[in-house]
Amino acid sequence: MAVPIAVSELPQLGLEQYEYISPEHHALELERFWRPGWRFVCHESELAARGRYVRFDLVGDSVIVVRGDDGAVHALHNVCRHRGSPLVTDQRGACRARLVCPFHGWSYDLDGTVRTTPKMHDDFDRTGWDLRRAWVEVWNGMVFISLAREEPESIAERLAGADFSGYDLSGLKIAWERDYTIQCNWKIAWEGGLECYHCGLNHPDLCRVVPIDDYGDQLNAREVAEYDYIPDRPNLPGVERRRGGRALRREDNPASGSTALQWHLGAFEMFAGVDAVYVAGFLPLGPTTCSIRALTLVHENAVEGVDYTQAAFHITEVTREEDNALVEIVQRGIFSSAYEPGPFNERLEAANRVFTQVYRDAMRA
Ligand code: FES
Ligand SMILES: [Fe+2]
Repeated sequence: MAVPIAVSELPQLGLEQYEYISPEHHALELERFWRPGWRFVCHESELAARGRYVRFDLVGDSVIVVRGDDGAVHALHNVCRHRGSPLVTDQRGACRARLVCPFHGWSYDLDGTVRTTPKMHDDFDRTGWDLRRAWVEVWNGMVFISLAREEPESIAERLAGADFSGYDLSGLKIAWERDYTIQCNWKIAWEGGLECYHCGLNHPDLCRVVPIDDYGDQLNAREVAEYDYIPDRPNLPGVERRRGGRALRREDNPASGSTALQWHLGAFEMFAGVDAVYVAGFLPLGPTTCSIRALTLVHENAVEGVDYTQAAFHITEVTREEDNALVEIVQRGIFSSAYEPGPFNERLEAANRVFTQVYRDAMRA
């Protein structure tokens, strides 16, 4: 979805204070932005077997994302149709034959169909009491859901221009994962990842391996769209030498670096490299608290200690932790009565200007 606006007309200033802290704005954001949009849940390897599930929470909503008997992934609201009890309370797990409500024992098939309603009156008609379903789509192995009322445009169509076919992403496994809770509005965390203007001052480990000025330019948006996609971003020096593990890049892939996607409206990013893929999904936990789920995936047959080591993820982890501390500090500044939106650096914060525009467009939609 290209936004019909010239780059020169993009916002010159950052977001307003209320957009970062107001509970009313946060509620509107859930309605206009978070629930109808596509949200990253997990990698499909986390739902490898029938009955495996991951619970996905979004400020009051809870959804069970589960591998069904039919092999498909289903997204079911975690709300029993009887008295509304959650069906699962664990963050992830495996259910046996069915989802069984712990309150009075109603049970549901893994596609949400109501199956048994113990001790209900004899003429009780179960028709219409299936679990409510959310939309689900698996895109390049990444599982997303949407709580939209109407069927949303598919991710494959929305991200049609973000081509990862140069990588074999069919069989991956998680080599590194972290769940972060951060005390800031999600947009502060997301915006921090759109620029490297702050990198020189704040990421000493990253700066030792990255030519920071060039890297900063590489993060700039190419066009005004709901996502920023760079097919061939130069690799960090030493990446190929350091790993050399099981390749993910296809032999006919002409890229020499990595392929980057930062999907503003999905609050999701994906960086595919020679032998690893990094993804992260951002979510609000409240007006000024958010979470990030970050994964690094490798070939399913890659062996730790042979094809990769945990040390290879050191920079990813350190940089993320440095960013988390930074964005929490920024949030404190934005609470001040003296805060007002500041000017963007046109060269180094181009993607931030695009984000500001597409975010506001989404909120108006
Ligand atoms: S609330 Fe689920 S069976 Fe009663
Ligand atoms: Fe950073």
